[in-house]
Amino acid sequence: MKPVQVNIARLQNEIDELALITEAVPPVVTRVLFSDADLRSRAFVKKLCREAGLVLREDAVGNIFARWEGAEKNLPAIATGSHIDAIPNAGKYDGVVGVLGAIEAIRALKNSGFQPKRSIELIIFTAEEPTRFGIGCLGSRLLGGILTPTKAASLHDRDGKDLEFWLKRGGCKGRLDSVKLPKNFYSAFVELHIEQGPVLEREKKSIGVVEKIAAPSTLSLQLTGVGGHAGATLMPGRRDALLTGAEIALAVEKAVLTSRSPDMVGTTGIFKIEPDAVNSIPCRALLEIDLRDTNLAARNMALPKIEKLAREICARRKIKMRFERLNADPPAICNAPLVQTVSGICRKLDVSCKKMISRAYHDSLFMARICPVTMIFIPCRDGVSHRPDEYSSPEQIAKGTRVLAETLAAAAVR
Ligand code: GLV
Ligand code: MN
Ligand code: MN
Repeated sequence: MKPVQVNIARLQNEIDELALITEAVPPVVTRVLFSDADLRSRAFVKKLCREAGLVLREDAVGNIFARWEGAEKNLPAIATGSHIDAIPNAGKYDGVVGVLGAIEAIRALKNSGFQPKRSIELIIFTAEEPTRFGIGCLGSRLLGGILTPTKAASLHDRDGKDLEFWLKRGGCKGRLDSVKLPKNFYSAFVELHIEQGPVLEREKKSIGVVEKIAAPSTLSLQLTGVGGHAGATLMPGRRDALLTGAEIALAVEKAVLTSRSPDMVGTTGIFKIEPDAVNSIPCRALLEIDLRDTNLAARNMALPKIEKLAREICARRKIKMRFERLNADPPAICNAPLVQTVSGICRKLDVSCKKMISRAYHDSLFMARICPVTMIFIPCRDGVSHRPDEYSSPEQIAKGTRVLAETLAAAAVR
């Protein structure tokens, strides 16, 4: 077998090309599930997979599987992958590095003459981002059996369009109950991703090997007050939905800061009001709150506390509230032998590495329910992500891709 050589110029070109497929004006990347841009990006990636000689299949929720058949077809495959959907106003590396990097890793392994015993399967997950339906990791949740087909079918976007509508638009076929895969369908899952935080850059490490993924949760609050003329309605007795939401958002911040859990983070990332006119009292507000922690008990204590505070604020301001927990997931513990494999490969390649926690969530969180997982992180500039100026250098991407290729190779001959 020849040495595994990553063609970083080709990979960087593909990353740049995919970034031009966007609903926004480049360099801003926005690819919401089954938008025109998302559909074109899926076609782009499938073409690369075909050119790499991979066999494609798609499931009923649009997860794409691209397989390099191993010599022993009946053994569980080793899987890798990530997502290509992107939140509004995103950059070009989140998810993409794990998909295009995996295609390059497979091409590099093929060029080296490597012959896998187990099949190697790339998964491009549907809607890792929560933009369309409010919950993230739609594809991997269904695949791991965390989201039931009935619950999935009840999802709808803010315009009232349900999952079935979007699946039809995405050209998906089949029944949702066929998506779930049995436990140990894969021998392991390894996801390459940008860190989305500052640790690797600060500590001058090239690779992060993920040992644990923080527990995410999302709350949705619909507030209904009373609107009216901004000039003619005097202040006493107003029932302003925006001010109520603002108090709730500040209460979330305070609940997190006083939780004594250093890893807890809370964000009111969505705050929409109606009628959204300068001379009209806001009568309705929609808030979505993202709350995470590496400590599940602390996160689980904060959730009811935030609900209680929101109810108190609404009662005092005479606002009606519909409160919904969209998700409250446990953390994932990565597989120790797999973490050792990746660390060992870094040592062999003389690449500096650090074991770490993922504070962002990923499809790996849900793949962990059906097989051993770990993640390979690469640094990103200033820890910036979910922004158009997100950046990882070609050298960093090349190292991550090389480590992924060697990890897949090691796991595919076991
Ligand atoms: C994933 O995009 C996350 O929000 O952690
Ligand atoms: Mn993301
Ligand atoms: Mn991501």
